[in-house]
Amino acid sequence: ATHIEKFGTVVCCGGGVGCAPLLPIVAAMKEAGNRVITVLAARTKELIILEKQMREYSDEVIIMTDDGLVTQGVEAVINREKVDLCVTIGPAVMMKFVSLLTRKYDIPTVASLNTIMVDGTGMCGACRITVGGKTRFVCIDGPFDAHQVDFDEMLMRLSSYKDLESK
Ligand code: FES
Repeated sequence: ATHIEKFGTVVCCGGGVGCAPLLPIVAAMKEAGNRVITVLAARTKELIILEKQMREYSDEVIIMTDDGLVTQGVEAVINREKVDLCVTIGPAVMMKFVSLLTRKYDIPTVASLNTIMVDGTGMCGACRITVGGKTRFVCIDGPFDAHQVDFDEMLMRLSSYKDLESK
């Protein structure tokens, strides 16, 4: 589970279907007394999900409709006010760039990852990634300090079955 407490201002950044698991985090962060700014991203406006529900729990919702620009939405917030924590869930490449951005500003960032999984119990190792130089299993060890995640390795492993997936 994502650790919830009163951090101050929390930017919750979701992309695609990652917005679904982000919703309970947004709600919990708000209930814990945080100022919550939610940035939702998808390729087009029609693909944005849960916007109405996000607005119920967020002080502000920013919609970004181009994958490459999600970081601009987050950076605009960072440039205008102090951000105490960032939570990100979405496509791996999106989380990679959110992580690179928040590292630049030294903002603690939590990434909830979705790798290839088989058993989901920590036994098969299919979901393994490298965090802070150590092997971790996404299914039982996550979420993680995004700044410690080796996103390039994760992206490489995510594409292991690309040929089969496209058939
Ligand atoms: Fe098998 Fe995580 S999915 S160890």
